[in-house]
Amino acid sequence: MKIISVVGARPNFMKIAPLAHAMRRVNGIEHVIVHTGQHYDEKMSGSFFKQLGIPRPKINLEVGSGSHAKQTAEVMARFETILLKHKPDLVIVVGDVNSTMACTIVAKKLWIPVAHVEAGLRSFDRKMPEEINRLVTDCICDIWFTTSPEAKKHLMKEGVPSSRIFFVGNVMIDTLFANRKTAEQSDALRRFKVYKRNYVLVTLHRPSNVDSRESLLKIMKALKIIQKKLPVIFPVHPRTHTNIKKFLSKRELGEFSSVAFSEPLGYFDFLNLMQYAKVVLTDSGGIQEETTALGVACLTLRKNTERPITITQGTNILVGTDTKRIIREAEKVINGKTKKGRCPKYWDGRASERIVKTIQLLNRKGKLSL
Ligand code: UD1
Repeated sequence: MKIISVVGARPNFMKIAPLAHAMRRVNGIEHVIVHTGQHYDEKMSGSFFKQLGIPRPKINLEVGSGSHAKQTAEVMARFETILLKHKPDLVIVVGDVNSTMACTIVAKKLWIPVAHVEAGLRSFDRKMPEEINRLVTDCICDIWFTTSPEAKKHLMKEGVPSSRIFFVGNVMIDTLFANRKTAEQSDALRRFKVYKRNYVLVTLHRPSNVDSRESLLKIMKALKIIQKKLPVIFPVHPRTHTNIKKFLSKRELGEFSSVAFSEPLGYFDFLNLMQYAKVVLTDSGGIQEETTALGVACLTLRKNTERPITITQGTNILVGTDTKRIIREAEKVINGKTKKGRCPKYWDGRASERIVKTIQLLNRKGKLSL
């Protein structure tokens, strides 16, 4: 069986890594990774391949940045050529980035079955580009692998037959557990001069939070207060970097003396900082899940989440983007009032193994297609 899997942006790499390893361990699968090049910097892409031991993709479509339409169109045109040449039996897509949706559409128009890993998540906010990507992908793919029970409910409401939905767990957490010990060797805490459970870790990159001056300043104002309680570490995503430079003057940035702004970090450094943070403030989807798996407090700076299980079972609290509320919730955690959580079912490091077994079984039965 020949399988092509697609990676495009940073959060895809941790999801493909355990699948690549699991496919390598079984006989009879030829696995080809296609990188669309949606993310291209060493710090946003290359370093993850090295650290997670993912074979360097022989095929890189090098689409780079652009508007949604342009980026999606470029991925589609270039991926079509690859599929026509390689004729895989199955395409695997993960998550909800533009590359996920683009490659699904191309494969389906060529009648190639598609499996979506992390299917069925819904924020019910169609202003989020990722929500559109999730809806389109889930509407036309053939096999749906889910991370949590509510995903199945969403998919069934949208007409997906339950026999094609497989609750397998969370591949991102496979990578987290596989690398947690190695991450201990990172010297990130020393480099940032912080002590365990004595700092706040921040990530921000959602367009709704960083693309306008008003929304970015609402969060930055909260950080200005929070830094007085505990030092803040803020690895800055390229999108956020551009906007911080655009919206804040040098003088304003000078007021963040206890915020350590850094370039995007590698996987091991970030994982180590995450597991020893007092609290993580984020608008990322994956980090809500990773903090839940680690049992670390997480405050999500968004109005909604497509990952409600991190709230109902995990350590996540949805705090929105109001400055005062962010400060209040962060202070609660800093003062020791933390929410206890547990790790959701099947977030156990074995999701990719379940996925590969299911694919093999469906292939044997001739049922890769819907
Ligand atoms: C993308 C995904 C988002 C995911 C995020 C993780 C979509 C719609 N968005 O958003 O779901 O959570 O990745 O990071 O697919 N840039 C660089 N170097 C890079 C990549 C980007 O400098 O390697 C800069 C470019 O100027 C670009 C900007 O960052 O314009 C934003 O990148 P883009 O890929 O458009 O979206 P993200 O915000 O990263």
